[in-house]
Amino acid sequence: MARFPFGIPNSWYVVAYSDELVRGQVERLRYFDRDLVAFRGESGQVAVLDAFCPHLGANLAVGGKVIGDTIRCPFHGWRWSTQGSCAEIPYAKRIPPNARVESYPVVERNGMVFVWYHADGNAPSFEIPEVAGWGRDDWLGSWLRWEWTIKTHPQEMAENGIDWAHFEIVHGFPIPEDRSCEFRPNSFLWQVGGAKSVSTLGGQTDELTMEGENWGMGFSWLKQAGTYDTVVATGLTPLDGETTHVRMGVIAHIGDREEEGEREAIRAYMEEHAVFAEQDFAIWENKKFRPTPGLCEEDGPIVDYRRWAAQFY
Ligand code: FES
Ligand SMILES: [Fe+2]
Repeated sequence: MARFPFGIPNSWYVVAYSDELVRGQVERLRYFDRDLVAFRGESGQVAVLDAFCPHLGANLAVGGKVIGDTIRCPFHGWRWSTQGSCAEIPYAKRIPPNARVESYPVVERNGMVFVWYHADGNAPSFEIPEVAGWGRDDWLGSWLRWEWTIKTHPQEMAENGIDWAHFEIVHGFPIPEDRSCEFRPNSFLWQVGGAKSVSTLGGQTDELTMEGENWGMGFSWLKQAGTYDTVVATGLTPLDGETTHVRMGVIAHIGDREEEGEREAIRAYMEEHAVFAEQDFAIWENKKFRPTPGLCEEDGPIVDYRRWAAQFY
C-alpha cells in the first residue's frame, strides 16, 4: 500500500544548478517517474525533453549530441529542437508532420534550472520568484550545496515548516511565540522568531530568526538572520510519488569580504547552526500520511496548509 495518496504535484522543480549544464552538455534525468534528457544548446538555451526518440525509441541522453540549439539522436540522426519539433532528418526529403517529442517548460532563475511538471501537460500556472541576495556583489556568488535523496513526498516535507510543535522535539529549540503563516494563491509565507531582524538583512545578531516562502510543492526560499544572514533555496524534486531528490543551496551576506575566504566558514556555520534538515529524515522516511489527523489547538495550521496544497493536484 502506498504511504502517500498524492501522486506528483503540478509545480516547478529544480533539475540542476545552471553551472552544472554548460553549452553543448547533455544530461540524463530521471524525475516524475519519467526518463528525460536535458541539454544546453549552443545559444545557451536549456531544454528538457522526453528521453526516448519518437522515431524508433533511442534514449537521446545516451550518445545524443548538441548541434546548434538541437539534440541529434544517436540512432538515425534525427534532430530535435528545444521545443520538441523535428529540425532535421539527415536522409529524408520531408519531415513527417507529426514528428514531435514531448518538451517541458524550462526557466533558469537564481542560478537554477527549473522544469514545469503538470500531470495533464498544462502550461505553468505561476512563476518562480527571484530570490533575495542572489546576484548581488555583497553576497556569495554561487550556491553552497547539500543534497539528499529521501523516501518521502514534497507535500510532507513542506508541511514541516508550519508544524510548530515538532521544532522543540526534533530540532531542539522551543516553539517560538512569534510565528505566523500566510497562505496565498501559489505560495505560502511563514515566519518564526522576530521577522524584523530578517527583513533588514545585513545586521548581525545571535538570535536565529527565519522567514520562508514555498512556491508550489517544488521550491522554497528561507531567509535566516543569525551570525551570518543567509538565504537557503531548497528544491524538492520527485523521482517518483514516494522518493524526493532534495537540493539545498545556501548563499550568505559577505559584505566586502573575500568570497573565497568566506565559503568554508559559511559552510561550517551552516553545518553547525542551521542545517536542520537531516534531523527530520528518520521521521519522514518512516511515517505515514494521516488524511484526518488528530490535532490539538496548539498545532500549527496543518489543515489550512493541506487545503492550500490541494491546488497543485
Ligand atoms: S530512434 Fe532517434 S533517430 Fe531513430
Ligand atoms: Fe523539521
